[in-house]
Amino acid sequence: MTASDAPPVTPPGSPEASPAPSPGRVRKAVIPAAGLGTRCLPLTKALPKELLPVFDRPALEVIAGEATESGLDSLVLVTGWGKSAIENHFDRLPALEEKLSRQPDLLDAVTRQTRNLSIISVRQGAPLGLGHAVGCARRAVGDEPFAVMLPDDLVLGPVPALRSLVQVFEQTGRGAVLVMEVPKEMIPSKGIIAGKQRADGTIDITDLVEKPRAEDAPSNWAVVGRYVFPPSIFPRIGASGSGALGEIQLTDAMRLLARDEGLIGVPINGRWLDTGTPLGLMLANVEYAWSGSADARAALRELLGRLERSDRPGEH
Ligand code: UTP
Repeated sequence: MTASDAPPVTPPGSPEASPAPSPGRVRKAVIPAAGLGTRCLPLTKALPKELLPVFDRPALEVIAGEATESGLDSLVLVTGWGKSAIENHFDRLPALEEKLSRQPDLLDAVTRQTRNLSIISVRQGAPLGLGHAVGCARRAVGDEPFAVMLPDDLVLGPVPALRSLVQVFEQTGRGAVLVMEVPKEMIPSKGIIAGKQRADGTIDITDLVEKPRAEDAPSNWAVVGRYVFPPSIFPRIGASGSGALGEIQLTDAMRLLARDEGLIGVPINGRWLDTGTPLGLMLANVEYAWSGSADARAALRELLGRLERSDRPGEH
């Protein structure tokens, strides 16, 4: 073999040197974070909603931790104008790391996600809808299965919520979405599935409807913001034009995927917390503080007891 016949030599440590992923392995999570966060205004006028605090860390750190604990190794952040704080948050800051060199707990807290995850950032030029945001990640994801995690939706439970979807995908090769039963009044604000529940509790999804009227809904099972898709979802995004509210909906692409390749609903194991409104964000803060710290639990007990007493006339 002459030198020109020899296969190209890849320097150790370069991206090409890593072994190719097995076809079924889910490694990347797409995180759409380019929305305007109008329901949280004025909180979100200058601050990205995805970095608002959930007890002791930004919401996106909770999501990044769930991705790592579910076996993923890369985040694809879809951001837009005014969201550069998100990229900065996941960047290295050598001066800060140097300063924290004698405070290992704090050093760990500011470097954990960048040590565990590769971060890829793509821009969505205009917030044209969730489906459009996911479509913007197409090149960064490439031809492999991937997760989508909505940073507004947090799941507090015994195991990371995304992990069960990854397992279902890796066992069946079919897309999987997290679902939960919701009361009637929540149906008009959610994506609702139609399907047949199997003996193991998972649901073979036959159709999906975005924000139906309660009386028209095919079930009371709503989609929660965790998904695992094969790359074949990408050509289906936007294939049926704009959907509800003139946006490119992810739901429309999921309907096509369910029809052509199958899609599995996996019931939630834990509590769903919606941080997309000020009230939901406050409740998520309380729940995360309560479950995460004995000091916070004691302080909350004292506060709630005092507020409860001050509500009763004559008692303080
Ligand atoms: P939401 O609809 O909950 O977020 O989308 P929003 O649009 O920012 O909030 P409101 O409704 O105005 O209060 C769920 C996720 O999808 C992202 C959002 O950033 C959020 O994380 N998203 C939504 C995009 O990245 N691009 C879009 O065009 C729409």
